[in-house]
Amino acid sequence: MGKVQILDHPLLQHKLSILRDKNTGVKEFREIVGEIAALMCYEATRNLPTQEIEIETPVAPAKVRVLSGKKLAIVPILRAGLGMVDTMISLIPSAKVGHIGLFRDPETHEPVQYYCKMPPDISERQVFIVDPMLATGGSAIAAIDILKREYGCKSITLMDIIAAPEGIKAVSEAHPDIDIIITAVDEKLNEHAYIVPGLGDCGDRIFGTK
Ligand code: PRP
Ligand code: URA
Repeated sequence: MGKVQILDHPLLQHKLSILRDKNTGVKEFREIVGEIAALMCYEATRNLPTQEIEIETPVAPAKVRVLSGKKLAIVPILRAGLGMVDTMISLIPSAKVGHIGLFRDPETHEPVQYYCKMPPDISERQVFIVDPMLATGGSAIAAIDILKREYGCKSITLMDIIAAPEGIKAVSEAHPDIDIIITAVDEKLNEHAYIVPGLGDCGDRIFGTK
């Protein structure tokens, strides 16, 4: 069974409170989504394997540790996931980026796919799917399905900022091998499948489309 890790670091909780506030404007909202993603990335990569190599400092030879093992890929679910990409790539510059475009049908709340482009060697990489919101779980399940079935990905972690209990349950049942990393589990979904209390429509708040 995959792990569900809730990151309750005070910095994350503080930044999340700013995202939740309806008076936070687009510029600050976008910046803070990026900052939260960087802090989450730091935790999500905590157990990556390293290997020892020898280098020369200006003073003496030194044994140092560098990342080893699988190369990494970041896969944002468009649109809102885009808000998490830049700060993560700044921490992992060698990561490649794949994009999955999904929107929720307003009536059925089912995900509708409109775009997909992956790096050619994605099946060999450790993949971090990023999307600020895990509501019904439909979008995350669809993205994981695509990565596993169409691209042969074997190592996938899902990173969301806020999750509803319904979404965590749905993803864990559909894909029990996937680890999920979040900063908060909220109370429930409302009748429009929005997370309560949540932060509203994350894509609209990042891109100023409402
Ligand atoms: C939001 C969010 C997730 C999805 C979560 O995207 O970014 O992708 O909803 O909901 P789910 O767990 O019920 O599938 P949305 O469909 O609003 O598209 P957008 O990012 O383009 O605004
Ligand atoms: N997508 C969002 O942006 N917010 C929600 O609360 C649910 C889905």
